[in-house]
Amino acid sequence: MPMTVPSAPAPDLAALAAALGSFAMAFDIRWVEECASTNSALLEAPPENDGRVYVLVATRQSAGRGRRGRQWLAWPGASLTFSALWRFAPDALAPAGLSLAVGLAVARALEKLGTPAVTLKWPNDVLVHGRKVAGILVEVSPERGALMAVIGIGLNLRLPADAVIPGQEGDGVTDLARELAEPPSREALLAAILSELHPILTIYASTGFALLRKAWQQRNAFADLPVRVSGGGVDVTGLCLGVDEEGVLLVHSSEGTHRVYAGDVSLRPAP
Ligand code: BTN
Repeated sequence: MPMTVPSAPAPDLAALAAALGSFAMAFDIRWVEECASTNSALLEAPPENDGRVYVLVATRQSAGRGRRGRQWLAWPGASLTFSALWRFAPDALAPAGLSLAVGLAVARALEKLGTPAVTLKWPNDVLVHGRKVAGILVEVSPERGALMAVIGIGLNLRLPADAVIPGQEGDGVTDLARELAEPPSREALLAAILSELHPILTIYASTGFALLRKAWQQRNAFADLPVRVSGGGVDVTGLCLGVDEEGVLLVHSSEGTHRVYAGDVSLRPAP
């Protein structure tokens, strides 16, 4: 039986440019109907550098990718899925804490749109009322002696009622339609995120994560709570102390403070 694929209206690029205001000239935005993965597309064929930040938005991804080799599922019109290409100066240090900086930009954009209770879950999930609303996949790649970062963002706008997201079943996921009386359009949401992302990336490019750390800590979903971090070769439990100036997660246990570079964090039930 043929599957019914939901469709989404064509993007309103004029509304996007208007919402971006003076930031419009900082970006070169392409919006395609479908691609496998916006991250993969930019990694495989990075566009020429004309000084602007290249952004690829896809209404539909056929092979969206999440962190740690997971799938990222999205539905046309129900999600905003895009990637931005950020090029580092040739002498820049290896980026640390970049995905945290991006999470902060998404959080600030959602807050400006009136979203309540936005928090950040290390390393790069954006939560609303404790449920995941957006995920971030940052992939760094060498390019002509320098580094480029492909910053992929997937945000749930209006999930279908029967949406099943592998690894996030149950009450762990939310969308903006659930959290806001009047959820923004895809265009307004994209403009809000890019308008926060550009200044944050500019700060990050000149000083690294250190100057953004305090703002991240203020939104840490698990601040001072008992957590377990597993995967990525670690299995640590303890109190979540937040992150250091490079975005490394600090977890305090009876053995001391652990510095965690990779893994999945979950709240640990009280003993
Ligand atoms: C995660 O939470 O695991 C990260 C999800 C990142 C999904 C976005 S959607 C746009 C971009 N293209 C991809 O294939 N992945 C990222």
